[in-house]
This record gives sequence, structure tokens and C-alpha cells, in this order.
Amino acid sequence: MKFFLDTANVDEIREWNATGMLDGVTTNPSLILKSGRDIKETLAEICEIVEGDVSGEVAATDYEQMLKEGRTLAAIAKNICIKLPITLDGVRACKTLVDEGFKTNMTLCFSPNQALLVAKAGATYVSPFIGRVDDMASDGMALIEDIRTIFDNYSFETQILAASIRTANHVKDCALAGADVATMPPSTITQLVKHPLTDKGLADFLSDWEKTGQTIS
Ligand code: E4P
Repeated sequence: MKFFLDTANVDEIREWNATGMLDGVTTNPSLILKSGRDIKETLAEICEIVEGDVSGEVAATDYEQMLKEGRTLAAIAKNICIKLPITLDGVRACKTLVDEGFKTNMTLCFSPNQALLVAKAGATYVSPFIGRVDDMASDGMALIEDIRTIFDNYSFETQILAASIRTANHVKDCALAGADVATMPPSTITQLVKHPLTDKGLADFLSDWEKTGQTIS
């Protein structure tokens, strides 16, 4: 399972990239707003830090303009993945951009049929939004499971990029459901390493080690 960081904050990306655990980055217009920075400048910096795919989202909603913005974003670096919303224009733009050899990430996926459509369009990734589905008192993880079944039924190569992840449990459940990628905010990826018994066990070991009076050299 690949881990992507869901942020446009380059300091956090640099920090997580140093762990060797980072396979890519996702951004969206809200995250660019939060960064307070220029989109092209920020994406260029992220692409220099991270080797894997970096999603940059178009702001246009009509086909022609989506193509124009998508190509502009893709020109920033070779690891840019063009992120497009799942609308009719978005799906059409996805097909065109894929035929031109670009990578695409189809976002704002809330139904298995939307995922089926973008897989047929040849999208590199589809991003089902787990947390936002849960917010509607529905089941975000069932969406991941349904998409996994559909993609496996037809051997679609589009990768399931689980998005809108809010908790460490979301990550575990995505892994059990067979999502290809989990994109997480820094606060969630940090939670993955934590367990109170690890902290307690380490404190006990360190205390006993000190009593041995030994050093390892
Ligand atoms: C990532 O690609 C999505 O844009 C992001 O995960 C959405 O997360 P949110 O629902 O917490 O805004």
C-alpha cells in the first residue's frame, strides 16, 4: 500500500519524505489556500522533494479549459499527476489527457459508478472521499470495498487512492479493503506509529538498561 501525504505544506512534506515512507503527495485548492502560496511554485517545490506522483488540481470546470490547465500543471515536473473532478467534462478531459500520456487523479468520487466511469476513461487514480461520506451518516469504507470488487471483476488498472482520511482506523480499514493508496494529513500519518504499550515498554527497557551500566559501542 502506498502512502501519500495530503498537504501543500512543504516543510511537512520534507519531514515525512526523510522517513522514506512517502510515495507521493496530493493537493487540492483548499490545501493551496491554506498554504498561502502560489500553486505552480508550490507544486514545483513539492515535486523536487518527492520522487512519486504529486497531484495538482485544475480549477476549470469546462473541458477545453481543463485540458489547458492540466497541461500547464503537467509541464511543472514529470511527476505531476493532473487532478480533475468527476464531472462529464472532467471524465472527457481525463480520457484526452490519458491518451496524451499524462497521469490523472479523478477526485470527488462518492459512488462506485463514478469510479467505474473513470476507470473506463483510463484514469491513473480514483479518489473516493471516505471521511466526507462518513460525515453524511453513510459508509465511506463500503465505497472503497465496492470499488475494489468492481475493479477486480474487470481487471481495471486504475488505482484506488483512498482520500478524505481522518483517522488511523481509516488507514487500517483501507488496507484491509485493498485500497492501493491512502492519502493522509500529517496528523493522521503521525498516529500510525503510536501505541501506548510501545511507549510504556520502551520506558521500561530504557530504565532496566540504565541499571546494567552497559553501553553498546
Ligand atoms: C485528497 O486528494 C482530497 O482532496 C482530500 O483528501 C480531501 O480531504 P477532506 O475531506 O478532509 O477535505
